[in-house]
Amino acid sequence: MPLVDTYGRLHDNLRISVTDRCNIRCFYCMPEETPAYGPREELLTFEEIERFVRVAAGLGVRKIRITGGEPLLRKDLPYLIERLQAVPGIEDLALTTNGVLLRQQAKDLYDAGLRRLNVHLDTLDRERFRQITRRDLFDRVMDGLFYAKEVGFDPIKINAVAAKGIVEPDIVPLARFGREHGMEIRYIEFMPLDAQGIWEREKVLTADTMLAMIESGIGPLDAIPDADPQAPATEYRFRDGIGRIGFIASVSKPFCLNCNRLRLTADGKVRYCLFAIEEMDVRDLLRAPDADDEAIANVIRANVKAKWMGHQIGSSQFVPPPRPMYSIGG
Ligand code: 5AD
Ligand code: SF4
Repeated sequence: MPLVDTYGRLHDNLRISVTDRCNIRCFYCMPEETPAYGPREELLTFEEIERFVRVAAGLGVRKIRITGGEPLLRKDLPYLIERLQAVPGIEDLALTTNGVLLRQQAKDLYDAGLRRLNVHLDTLDRERFRQITRRDLFDRVMDGLFYAKEVGFDPIKINAVAAKGIVEPDIVPLARFGREHGMEIRYIEFMPLDAQGIWEREKVLTADTMLAMIESGIGPLDAIPDADPQAPATEYRFRDGIGRIGFIASVSKPFCLNCNRLRLTADGKVRYCLFAIEEMDVRDLLRAPDADDEAIANVIRANVKAKWMGHQIGSSQFVPPPRPMYSIGG
């Protein structure tokens, strides 16, 4: 039986966080001070992750994205990539990184079979990068990004989180940069997932606003008819034929009704939504000497069954999740 929830949504997409640690401190995600990370024994081992993925693939999961924290901080990540790639049923494997360690690791990841990369970059301005991430690592990220391109990653997409009052000067330059280097920029509306609770509706730079900025700064855009109706991004191509962009309008135009995603946190909890309040543990099962795959499958099924209709960001009912972004996995 495929993983269909009570609203009829088919779940074939799994996002796996491999660590809650990060080497930068984006204000919309991490606190300024290094948080109390969970102890290492709490992290699922690669064997445990692989087993979970085999079970999930048996239930119809076809796509996997590795996230964090910063996934490249997880030792020997290419080995995990190689193993997951080989799981029967998995058709698509991608990774989201902040790029800081790409110079060191892009080649090994590529050799392990990874081809699809999302690099998180909100600005092309070094000073603003430092302001947003509280680390002076802009040059490292740019170097890593170009190196990844040289190694052969394709496609490379750029995730740019859009918080009002900060990145307005970056919206158009990023789109130009993407056109020039053949990388799609994905503008992500600032969501209430930050560790410090600073999110407000007024701090969201909306997709419509950004679209207007880009059209007046560069030129007309045409909506691309949805290739994959379940993909959260709405995509546009420039009318002159050079390049495309995407918007993840989680706040202004929630796409919950098409959601096909499940999450596995680094410490072994299954979550049906980024914003879920409840989550279900599988780590104990993965570690129990006598638990069979069916028991793990049952947790996945139960979690999908419990899935709500969607987050209610913006409504008075909205309650932010008890864990910030870095500990859930983007
Ligand atoms: N709002 C929107 N996007 C966020 N990300 C992290 N925190 C937030 C937030 N509060 C994004 C990062 C990362 C992706 C996994 O999630 O850009 O690339
Ligand atoms: Fe690190 Fe990503 Fe959070 Fe930025 S958004 S602090 S890169 S985990």
